[in-house]
Amino acid sequence: MLISNIRLKNWRNFQSLDLPLRDVSYVLGPNAIGKSNLLDALRFLRDVSKTQGGGLQVAVAERGGISKVRCLHARRDPEVEIDVEFSHELDQQPAAWRYVLAFKPEDKKPQRILVSREQVWKDGKQLLNRPDNKDAADVLLLTQTHLEQIQTNIKFREVVDFLSDITYLHLVPQLLRFGEKIGGHRLTDDPFGQGFLERLSKTSEKIRTSRLLKISKALSLAVPQFEDLRFVKDDMGHPHLEARYAHHRPNAGWQSEEHFSDGTLRLFGLLWALLEGSSMLLLEEPEISLNDAIVREIPLIVDRLQRDRKTKRQVLLTTHSDALLSNPGIDERGVVILETGKQGTTGRLVDTSERQALAAGLSVAEVVLPKTRPKNVSQLGLWQ
Ligand SMILES: Nc1ncnc2c1ncn2[C@@H]1O[C@H](COP(=O)(O)OP(=O)(O)O)[C@@H](O)[C@H]1O
Ligand SMILES: [Mg+2]
Repeated sequence: MLISNIRLKNWRNFQSLDLPLRDVSYVLGPNAIGKSNLLDALRFLRDVSKTQGGGLQVAVAERGGISKVRCLHARRDPEVEIDVEFSHELDQQPAAWRYVLAFKPEDKKPQRILVSREQVWKDGKQLLNRPDNKDAADVLLLTQTHLEQIQTNIKFREVVDFLSDITYLHLVPQLLRFGEKIGGHRLTDDPFGQGFLERLSKTSEKIRTSRLLKISKALSLAVPQFEDLRFVKDDMGHPHLEARYAHHRPNAGWQSEEHFSDGTLRLFGLLWALLEGSSMLLLEEPEISLNDAIVREIPLIVDRLQRDRKTKRQVLLTTHSDALLSNPGIDERGVVILETGKQGTTGRLVDTSERQALAAGLSVAEVVLPKTRPKNVSQLGLWQ
């Protein structure tokens, strides 16, 4: 299953947004336009849908309260709304599922966050429409979504499972390397990779070996001199990744992750994540620390690595990268452009003239990326 459409109202810097998504979507736009905020809307639904340690109140509180998630451009006292459609296949009509959640604070103290609307459709037929009679009799019920409760989400468990499995990855190489030594607090779902090696360790040996083999093949294409990859545990029982390179002395042996380049580690994390599950994957700027020759291949790697899988992961990635978007294999229908509009950020797909330029052989980097650059950016070099 995949999310085929997302609509936002008053979510962070989007007063209103309505966008179709593909199996792989590329979110482009200048700094601070709201790329991460778009991903956060989906992470928010994930956090709400968690039956343990999640829910609406926690998801809002973790983001600093309603005043942080509600659009500052919004008119007085509006609700925040997220509306997603799910399909089993691309271009399926009507969508297999639609889930809508709107919420706002109570008028009076204690100003709890209340569900102002929660609706579910399956194959175009409505299954849930809140507030309902029960809600009218007990306002406390509106502090919880049906999404977060196992008793109430039984009829749309497929949606719950999809949302709660959404993975967000923004791997920080130093955290992956020194996760064990740094210790301390770890964020739920480990988006920055602090517990990455532990996750490898918990994967069954058979599956791990097969994934490492696939990753090895991809890395040998992307990382010069790379030869082989393996998983080991040291004397203390701590998990490690090790790689061997052709240019080392003949008996130099294996090198552990502490010595991998940031780029190799990030690429490893990306490839592992692509193979790890079947739910949606949200990727923040996968180009960071990678050299352009590798970044250029990311669209192909995402595609190829998943080609023979029964269920591909839907990928939604943010990027600034010229190299990544210069790949001729990018499906333009998956290109999402965020721009400044009159009322906050708006989003769009490629337009007719851009489509013509792409059809004539130009790349997304050439046609679309220049438009996402701030107008006065060339003056930055004169700044002092
Ligand atoms: N509730 C809100 N209303 C309006 N703008 C917001 C809100 N929350 C965050 N923003 C703005 O969104 C911008 C950051 O967006 P972000 O998604 O991090 O950008 P990007 O990932 O494209 O660089 C910041 O300028 C911030 O002020
Ligand atoms: Mg960002």
